[in-house]
Amino acid sequence: MIGDLWYKNAVIYNLSLATFMDANGDGIGDFQGLQRRLDYLHGLGITCLWLGPFQPSPMKDDGYDVADYYSVDPRYGTLGDFVEFTHGCKQRGIRVIIDLVINHTSDQHPWFQQARKDPASPFRDWYVWSDRKPENADQGMVFPGVQKTTWTHDREARAWYFHRFYKFQPDLNTANPRVQAELLKIMGFWIQLGVSGFRMDAVPFIIATKGADVTKPVEQFDMLRTFREFVQWRRGDALLLAEANILPEDDLEYFGHDGDRCHMMFNFQVNQHLFYALASGDGGPLIDAMLATKPRPHSGQWGSFLRNHDELDLGRLTEAQRQTVFDAFGPDKHMQLYDRGIRRRLAPMLHGDRRRLELAYSLMFTLPGTPVIRYGDEIGMGDDLSLPERNCARTPMQWSDEPQAGFTKSDRPIMPVISGGVFGYERVNAAMQRRDPESMLNWTERIIRMRKECPEIGWGDFRILKTGRREVLALRYDWRNNGVVVVHNLSDKPCEILLDVDGEGERSRLVNLLSEEHSLPDDKGRHPMVLEAYGYRWFRVGGLDYLMKRSEG
Ligand code: NOJ
Ligand code: CA
Repeated sequence: MIGDLWYKNAVIYNLSLATFMDANGDGIGDFQGLQRRLDYLHGLGITCLWLGPFQPSPMKDDGYDVADYYSVDPRYGTLGDFVEFTHGCKQRGIRVIIDLVINHTSDQHPWFQQARKDPASPFRDWYVWSDRKPENADQGMVFPGVQKTTWTHDREARAWYFHRFYKFQPDLNTANPRVQAELLKIMGFWIQLGVSGFRMDAVPFIIATKGADVTKPVEQFDMLRTFREFVQWRRGDALLLAEANILPEDDLEYFGHDGDRCHMMFNFQVNQHLFYALASGDGGPLIDAMLATKPRPHSGQWGSFLRNHDELDLGRLTEAQRQTVFDAFGPDKHMQLYDRGIRRRLAPMLHGDRRRLELAYSLMFTLPGTPVIRYGDEIGMGDDLSLPERNCARTPMQWSDEPQAGFTKSDRPIMPVISGGVFGYERVNAAMQRRDPESMLNWTERIIRMRKECPEIGWGDFRILKTGRREVLALRYDWRNNGVVVVHNLSDKPCEILLDVDGEGERSRLVNLLSEEHSLPDDKGRHPMVLEAYGYRWFRVGGLDYLMKRSEG
């Protein structure tokens, strides 16, 4: 039934608490502030919130360095505030998923503190140690250019410890059964407090074999089934959304051939080729990426996204493709990061061009999967490239043209508010856009509403329709006796196409879902269509009586 597997037709919104809304005036966003903005999110139409890490942390990696898994960082509030917040979401029919950062802890976590102090401590074996500097210590860094090594010497421990990420993030020894038991306990804790599941950070690294003599880490996929079973026993509709930037040939290992591992994964393959398509106007490689990631179990789902809190990772493109994206969207060195990506927000990458923003969003909302929006992108926020690394795209939400963009009463926000210029809060803010029916915010609200009314996209099978042009991407979804067709012109030039909706002799009218421009077939059943530069269309095949025709199974 539709209501089950809720993530198949959800709209997910990703936010970071620190920069969303500050209620107590200390310059840092908090749960009470977020609570006050729930009606904004409800009005936007999103159905699920993905919250970045909010547990106690030294905040050296935006909270992805957790020092206590069972609590809320006092800067954000208390566990009481957290439960009030999940309750507020529940009242509005919004689900909450939270980041689960269990590949590593902060080096300030008491487990690591005890492990380094005492070789006899039971916590010693919770981390990954070596007496000598491993030979591959200068390999496998996730943040090349910033991170120098994956093994660091600890004077107190008199040993080297492994860290896939920054050196203040020692890797947990996830093969240790005691560690595994603790990880389940953490999941159970937050489920009990009202969350619907987890965005699992760094999944390939969690399940990889780790150690000084490991030259080629091997994934222990069974672990994913253990996690899945546990969360689903605790809460039938719990979701595991994996962050796993992997090759398509490994997708089924992560979903599980029988759909018994991760429910959902971000589609990094499509994401990178989508940006290539936007940069080059050529949809060919994007189609290849979609076809390569097509096989998945019935219960498996992709997360479709444009930007998130990290850099836009282009590591899976060919060098020439990557260069094309760099040239178009991040030509200067300081816009790029970790030798593989671009750290900017979406709107500045697309030069604030509304036509291109709508095209990009329309694509994201209609690619196979469930859309995941980054906070602020719904109003076209910009970035602050003077901030280090990924922080440039983590500035405070721009609520209004009041001081500090209405984010805080403090004059010292945790991150500077973007002010002045094209993307400053004086020009780009939610309050102004609410009043303007044509604003990006109201466009996003309308497109979200329409996307929710097209469960064919979230649930159905897709086919690529022939358009005869590499710059025009046309897809058809079928589900329960209904068809939806979406067409996107990637290029900066208008063009004419002859669309075959591939309905086996079908001579159907295409009803435009976004305007009055419907389409009648010619005598061969094809649809001649003129698309403006960066134009997009959403159609229903047949007529608006589709709900009468929808079958039950
Ligand atoms: C992936 C997260 O998205 C990123 O922000 C973080 O730095 C690393 N994992 C380490 O937790
Ligand atoms: Ca605060």
